[in-house]
Amino acid sequence: MPSQRPQPARTAAPAPLTARTADRHDLYQRSVQAPETDAAFYARWFEKYSGRKLRVLREDFCGTALLACHHVRRHPENRAIGVDLHGPTLAWGRRHNVQRLLDAEQQRRLSLLQANVLDVRRPLADVIVALNFSYSVFKTRRDLAAYLRNCHRALRPGGVLFLDAWGGPDVMKQQTDRTRHRGFTYLWEQRRYDPISHGIVCAIHFAFPDGTRLRNAFVYDWRLWTLAELRELFAEAGFVDVHVLWEGTDKATGAGNGVFRRKERGDMDEAWISIVVGQKRG
Ligand SMILES: C[S@@+](CC[C@H](N)C(=O)[O-])C[C@H]1O[C@@H](n2cnc3c(N)ncnc32)[C@H](O)[C@@H]1O
Repeated sequence: MPSQRPQPARTAAPAPLTARTADRHDLYQRSVQAPETDAAFYARWFEKYSGRKLRVLREDFCGTALLACHHVRRHPENRAIGVDLHGPTLAWGRRHNVQRLLDAEQQRRLSLLQANVLDVRRPLADVIVALNFSYSVFKTRRDLAAYLRNCHRALRPGGVLFLDAWGGPDVMKQQTDRTRHRGFTYLWEQRRYDPISHGIVCAIHFAFPDGTRLRNAFVYDWRLWTLAELRELFAEAGFVDVHVLWEGTDKATGAGNGVFRRKERGDMDEAWISIVVGQKRG
């Protein structure tokens, strides 16, 4: 017979993650993305450059469109366009991000396009961001130039393009960095770097407390672009006031401190991340 005594409320602790139960998109988002901070960051810099509020954000290579969702949440007039080639990743984003983070009205202010970033020109955006080095899939000057020209056409007058970039001698070394998170470890493997072509292959793996691993959760076959090349290509595509936002260094840890400043000369860091910026004439 069932007991009539009231049972104390119990919240079951989540089962420990394993390679079988983990979801690679969820782990990726928890490991490499900071969407609220990023949404505020790009809004702040855009206002500084253009004197107006950032209302239409286009997130290229958006994957699960987490940043686009957070931009929409920031203001009732904000709209976002997310562009990605990969249907299943966009579908994951719709189910786990769009439907969970946005109400019906907010969802109407977000468009997710399954398309090549080279082909999308409308609607015009205030800002285009291409983050986590995703534009590095373009391995020739010709292809990257075509992408940057397309971004230029897809921006409103005064609009701004932001691409993040990485480099430093550490990046060209074969090595794997490990970062512990709650319930799993994130591994970033620099697998191969070719000094002739600047081709670079990297992979993300996840390791779990039971010893299982999700190997090659994501593999990237890229070209490592230099800041000098990126600045030249931005200017050739028609952007003005092309410059670099360079991240400061935390003196205690030697790692990036999350504070970006416009700089003409960088530091000889072992590894760095920075942001290349270009504006379309107003
Ligand atoms: C490294 S993920 C980036 C995810 C997200 N932007 C971030 O910051 O974490 C790269 C994404 O780019 C997409 N992609 C690659 N080439 C593309 C192209 N030519 N057009 C649109 N999406 C592309 C892939 O499908 C993948 O989802």
